[in-house]
Amino acid sequence: MTDLTQLEAELSARTAAASDLAALEAIRVEALGKTGSISELLKTLGKLSPEERREQGPKINGLRDAVAAAIAAKKAALETAELEAKLAAERVDLTLPAPPERRGRVHPTMQVLDEMIAIFAEMGFDLAEGPDIEDDFHNFTALNFPPKHPAREMHDTFWLPEDAHGERKVLRTHTSPVQVRVMQRLNEKLPAWIANGPPGANGQPPIRVMVPGRVYRSDSDATHTPMFHQMEGLVIDKNIHMGHLKWTLETFTRRFFETDAVVTRFRPHHFPFTEPSCEMDVQCDRSGGSIKIGQGADWLEILGGGMVHPTVLANCGLDPDVWQGFAFGLGIDRLGALKYGMPDLRDMFAADTRWLEHYGFSAFQAPNSATGLS
Ligand code: DAH
Repeated sequence: MTDLTQLEAELSARTAAASDLAALEAIRVEALGKTGSISELLKTLGKLSPEERREQGPKINGLRDAVAAAIAAKKAALETAELEAKLAAERVDLTLPAPPERRGRVHPTMQVLDEMIAIFAEMGFDLAEGPDIEDDFHNFTALNFPPKHPAREMHDTFWLPEDAHGERKVLRTHTSPVQVRVMQRLNEKLPAWIANGPPGANGQPPIRVMVPGRVYRSDSDATHTPMFHQMEGLVIDKNIHMGHLKWTLETFTRRFFETDAVVTRFRPHHFPFTEPSCEMDVQCDRSGGSIKIGQGADWLEILGGGMVHPTVLANCGLDPDVWQGFAFGLGIDRLGALKYGMPDLRDMFAADTRWLEHYGFSAFQAPNSATGLS
């Protein structure tokens, strides 16, 4: 017959010594589990005579209750100790400095775009946008590039595969197709007053709009990237002439470079969609390895422009004998690189966050004409 006193002493000693919940659970299973030592003792009761059972029953049941109570008490103690250890280890030290926060930077192209918008908006220009995937008509034909004309090749165009109608769309090579969409008033992204025309004018000009956007050409070196950003300008009204174009661009350039010392020069040029056409240069100094605007005796071409060709006006449904206008196109990234001294245009789109950390802008530096552009 098992010595109940000894069994109880042994179990209570082991229970007291259990150092964690797993060890305690092992003791419980060993004693009180289905085939545990105390459970086996309980099973023997059925085989005893009534007298023996009367004597042994209360003892064994008492042993079971005592062991179960000891284990439960030890379990509660171990759980409390475990929680306390966890709380001590995980205590939050509110005096520690907060970890540095990673802040995003505004990409220079977007900053420069905002600067340009601030300048042209103050001159009364509205904003319009057009699609990046353009059809041949808007990108070339309406702009007076005749079919098969070599000028189409000059743009290093990315052609898309033929669609179901046998048409090959293009990634637009310039923002000029949006001129056509604005004049046709066929673009879903036109501001309402351009789309519908000013009240009472039946959708007729005047138009005064700037068009920023991505453009694409198969070209890549330090001053060319396959995707870049252009800003197109378009003004259509009665009695518009080259003088308006010259004033607008000179004023823009001085404000953009934030100095009245900027000297500009207009050279005759050729674009199919303007007549006469010009390129505008700014005077600069290239002597010191970097380009400085507003000093020196060198010239740097920064944009193209001209008077909208009568054929283009007619292609867009405007009577060239009534309406005239000027247009211009400039490279947003290129002007930004010039203003903020970035040597290689390809870095702009390499998605290197170190570059962005260095050349990027704080989101709080929102350019506007009241507080300054940069
Ligand atoms: N679309 C021309 C280009 O990408 C730039 C340009 C030149 C736009 C003259 C114009 C313009 O609106 O009048 O090279």
